[in-house]
Amino acid sequence: MTEIRFESQRVADPFEVKTDFLILPVAESELESAAIRKIDRKLGGALSRHAKEADFRGQEGKSLLHRVEEGAPFRTLYLVGMGKTGDRTLERWRRAVAAAVRAGRGEGARRAAVFFQRARPSEVVAAAEAVALSGYRFDRYRQPPKSQPPTLAHVSFIGPTLDDRQIADDLGDLDAIVPAVCAARDLVNEPPSVMTASELGRRAVAMCRGGAVRVEVMRLDAIRRLGLNGLLAVNRGSVEEPRFIRMRYRPRGRSRRRIALIGKGITFDSGGLSLKPPGAMETMKQDMAGAAAVCGVMAAIGRLKPQVEVTGYVSSTDNLPSGSAQKPGDVIRYRNGKTVEVLNTDAEGRLVLADALALACEEKHDVLIDLATLTGACRIALGTQVAGIMGNDEELVDRLVETGREAGEMMWPLPLVKEYRDDLRSSVADLKNVGAGFPGAITAGLFLQEFVDGAAWAHLDIAGPAFADKDWPYCPRGGTGFGVRTLVRYLMSL
Ligand code: BES
Ligand code: MN
Ligand code: ZN
Repeated sequence: MTEIRFESQRVADPFEVKTDFLILPVAESELESAAIRKIDRKLGGALSRHAKEADFRGQEGKSLLHRVEEGAPFRTLYLVGMGKTGDRTLERWRRAVAAAVRAGRGEGARRAAVFFQRARPSEVVAAAEAVALSGYRFDRYRQPPKSQPPTLAHVSFIGPTLDDRQIADDLGDLDAIVPAVCAARDLVNEPPSVMTASELGRRAVAMCRGGAVRVEVMRLDAIRRLGLNGLLAVNRGSVEEPRFIRMRYRPRGRSRRRIALIGKGITFDSGGLSLKPPGAMETMKQDMAGAAAVCGVMAAIGRLKPQVEVTGYVSSTDNLPSGSAQKPGDVIRYRNGKTVEVLNTDAEGRLVLADALALACEEKHDVLIDLATLTGACRIALGTQVAGIMGNDEELVDRLVETGREAGEMMWPLPLVKEYRDDLRSSVADLKNVGAGFPGAITAGLFLQEFVDGAAWAHLDIAGPAFADKDWPYCPRGGTGFGVRTLVRYLMSL
């Protein structure tokens, strides 16, 4: 990944800035603004002629690449349409500016500048976040290209109203957030035979190093002692050892609240004896994306140091068939006394999350948030852009949905329909691990709820957005780091 250096500057006239590629976000009403007219005048009217020819009026999704022959300190001017002024969300800034910067990379620009005619600091910071994230690449397993193209290394944010200090502060937070998102993407993108549970443990330690988070990586003996029997059951088919990771952050002084984050860390999901078909396995290295997000959040808050206590729990193993694998019909006894009949070994995520939820509840938290690539059903319901969210506390769910909206990570509530709880009745144990068909995301949520006791709880089913099936505006195909930005924002706001 190439590091991009940012700077923000209060500049009224973009002609004062020397750059290769000048980006001008333009809303539909802004093409006639004084700032744009002034630029056009200095370019002898060429810009307005070009815009007219190309029918560029600032429409969302449209852009205009205008080459400047001479008389300006920039070679290329790139107008990016922001649509109607009224409904400009932070996410629109992210997508628009990331697309513009991508165009700049295509032009071989080393330095780019974004000129904000007027923008709130949060919009400038959102744009910077997207630019930084759009630089992410996972090319450790590729041969280096023969000739290295020049890379974009410097982006300045300029404009007449930019408040340098406020923006500089928030840009500073990005130094913790962006690497955390990229590290989470890396964890998902690594091949599954590299990213084993033990490797995940080592990476969690490495990611949190230098921050205020203490990481404990528990091995087989500790997992047995703790009675994390769901994790042990899923691990039985594997030649790799499981790991249970606990990451603790305690603020200096009094903490306002105790929050637990719980991540599903299935490093590869073959389905176990209830084997998946080949196509469904192709991207199942993503099944530890919840764990990756939790590690990312912990790494970031260890640096940002919010005033709340946060504990991250990760339950990790792969899910493979073998002579020693758990079998449909087996029963797991959990540390809270509950028993579960395993009828489908491919519903393994809930089995390992149940341990972590039960343990977290014993360790007393005010809020529990779990992230898991839990069900194909959720992906079918909401697609790859939106996570499903469920929980026992409407206020918490609403707050996370709203925070996700600001962060550019969409979530949509699904109801925990009590009537479907009957589908989880077992003939031999307290519960079985699969429901009866269609509402698979909801029965999975209801299953998890059985292990939640005495805390506000939200469950994020990220089976859709954890992994980009194609390039996204500021994320290439592969792991997305979904959840990191929302949860860091949420924790910083408490
Ligand atoms: N890891 C999968 C869910 C998944 C599917 C994640 C697609 C990402 C993309 C999970 O462990 C699983 O296999 N769920 C089953 C549950 C079923 C057996 C009740 C599913 O969704 O089919
Ligand atoms: Mn599965
Ligand atoms: Zn799974």
